[in-house]
Amino acid sequence: MSESIRSIEDLSLEGVTTFIRVDFNVPLKNGEVTDDTRIRAALPTIRYALDQGARVVLASHLGRPKGKVVPELSLEPVAARLAELLEDGEVRLTDDCIGDGARKVVQDLRDGQVALLENLRFHPEEKSNDVDFARELGTGCAAYVNDAFGAAHRAHASVSALPRLIDDRAAGFLLQRELEVLEKLRTEPPRPYLAVLGGAKVSDKIGVMEALISKVDALLVGGAMANTFLAAQGHGVGKSLCENDKLPLARSLTSTAEEAGVDLLLPVDVRVGDSVEARVAEEVDVDSIPSDSMALDIGPKTEALYRDRLRKAQAVFWNGPMGLFENPAFAEGTLAVARAAADCPGFSVVGGGDSVAAVKQANLGSRFDHVSTGGGASLEYLEGRPLPGVEALRP
Ligand code: 3PG
Repeated sequence: MSESIRSIEDLSLEGVTTFIRVDFNVPLKNGEVTDDTRIRAALPTIRYALDQGARVVLASHLGRPKGKVVPELSLEPVAARLAELLEDGEVRLTDDCIGDGARKVVQDLRDGQVALLENLRFHPEEKSNDVDFARELGTGCAAYVNDAFGAAHRAHASVSALPRLIDDRAAGFLLQRELEVLEKLRTEPPRPYLAVLGGAKVSDKIGVMEALISKVDALLVGGAMANTFLAAQGHGVGKSLCENDKLPLARSLTSTAEEAGVDLLLPVDVRVGDSVEARVAEEVDVDSIPSDSMALDIGPKTEALYRDRLRKAQAVFWNGPMGLFENPAFAEGTLAVARAAADCPGFSVVGGGDSVAAVKQANLGSRFDHVSTGGGASLEYLEGRPLPGVEALRP
């Protein structure tokens, strides 16, 4: 991480009301947190601040309520889960992130106590990076810590405007670790360095593909975005998801890779079905995709090809599933890549909601060197784009 950004350890926190931006944007079902990874990931920073005697004010967004109060997106279940994880901790959830109620809760905090502000995105000013809203959010806080790597690419009030209003600002442990790992991949990756990109759309990954082509030794492509590359090569892709308006882009990315001497690997076979609900997968080579079928996963030959490359990698970055892995008939390609990336002898990093979910489904989390808590943020960082949440921490 940049020398000029301070760490939470550089701040004096005893008796200081400290605003900590966390990313508690976690999945919920029936009012319960179904995956608490992001809450756990922020615990070292929260515990450290509490041990130092700080009065901790946590703030996060949850979902995309579009600037309105959506009761189902209240942080209440998150507060309950956090209180359990902090063991002896009580977490005071405010009724709103700004206003008299929140101010009172913050004012009444004692050293070593925690408040959690209600969902920041219940106010449109969070997203519009409104300075007055930021000032209200930070009322009474004399220190600011950002530990929300997953939201660091958003120029929102709690991430961008607020830290600029507080002199004592710093990065928490999670943000530091995420940046350290990605910086290593960005500047001095051990070689061979492989990137595995999947997901639905080439258009979501253009920037990162362009950036990675100048850095990696090979780019392995899967998921529906591979269909666009296959169609650009002249393969019939049947009813598969394919961005027909992006065929020229796929061709140009292919020739950029060729010129750079980077291997751009595409599936040689796929698993197809007649719809996304199909229960049975049929394996076909990419030159024989039936016109009434959809390619929904990479095939076994492609798995073997990708596995072989991953076996020799010294660094791997993986973002995006290889297929429709939430349908068990089309999960195997993604799980095979998850296992191969986990087994690679080098430094392995996975980012992005779906690929991280696949890694967890296969119980492989501990076999990766780093499981990023930020999908979009990690892609933008690797792309070389400044992250607003990081920039705002600079002096
Ligand atoms: C995420 O889940 O990727 C982060 O919390 C950011 O959420 P957003 O994409 O809704 O801004």
